[in-house]
Amino acid sequence: MDRSRRLFPAQMSALQLPAVLLAAFALRAQLCSAACVEVDSDTEAVVGAGFKIGCISCKKRGEVRAIAVVNWYFKANGDSEFSHIYNYADQTPYIADERFYGRLAWNGSKKTLDLQEGSIYILNVTYNDTGTYHCYFDRTLVFPFYEFHTNASKTINLNVVAKATRGMASILSEVMMYVSIIGLQLWLLVEMIYCYKKISAAGEEALRESAAEYLAITSESKDNCTGVQVAE
Ligand SMILES: *[C@@H]1O[C@H](CO)[C@@H](O)[C@H](O)[C@H]1NC(C)=O
Ligand SMILES: *[C@@H]1O[C@H](CO)[C@@H](O)[C@H](O)[C@H]1NC(C)=O
Ligand SMILES: *[C@@H]1O[C@H](CO)[C@@H](O)[C@H](O)[C@H]1NC(C)=O
Ligand SMILES: *[C@@H]1O[C@H](CO)[C@@H](O)[C@H](O)[C@H]1NC(C)=O
Repeated sequence: MDRSRRLFPAQMSALQLPAVLLAAFALRAQLCSAACVEVDSDTEAVVGAGFKIGCISCKKRGEVRAIAVVNWYFKANGDSEFSHIYNYADQTPYIADERFYGRLAWNGSKKTLDLQEGSIYILNVTYNDTGTYHCYFDRTLVFPFYEFHTNASKTINLNVVAKATRGMASILSEVMMYVSIIGLQLWLLVEMIYCYKKISAAGEEALRESAAEYLAITSESKDNCTGVQVAE
């Protein structure tokens, strides 16, 4: 009786450990998949290449189920008004402006109605794509007994260039990388030469010492030799 009662907590913990691990994994997976970061879009496209116009709108409360619709508007440089160019609702894309027919692809959240990314991809950028883009999220949060609407929007000023230009920070960091690599290698070389010299100097010293010792011993043993032979 007593024994079984004492065993019981141990059995429980043996059973609980996998369950706790499983729960931890599940929580981690949930946190990972729920992690949403609102990264700003790039604003420089290269003519003739593809370009992703980023638009991310995170749910304030990741655990609440939601349904979102994304609309894009575009105002070219020189235009006075925005025009509707793209709609994504119910996992169906729709290009609403003839300037973008066949040139826009969905790059946002896939296989879900609960969109958190509404990015689109311009397949073949032209100079005419220069301008201001608006991305609108219409989100419906679904609670057990009611629904709640929220809107979010992002504005992206797109600049189209002939060739990709690199930011000063990127160039500088690359230069710094090379400087530090070369610096470290030089330091390593100096250190190796220094160590080599020190070791070889120590080796010579030791050699000289051992040679002197050897000579001393041999001369000693030579002296003794005659003595030994005589003794025999
Ligand atoms: C965006 O869409 C384009 C065209 O469909 C595709 O080539 C590209 O891989 C997509 N990028 C992402 C990050 O989904
Ligand atoms: C991209 O557009 C330019 C100009 O409209 C055209 O000459 C070129 O063939 C297009 N490239 C692709 C891959 O569609
Ligand atoms: C850009 O716009 C101008 C003026 O609307 C038009 O003449 C030209 O064909 C357009 N270029 C491209 C590549 O769509
Ligand atoms: C969200 O935007 C839609 C149109 O895009 C509008 O009808 C609605 O009133 C807006 N909702 C809120 C809460 O601003």
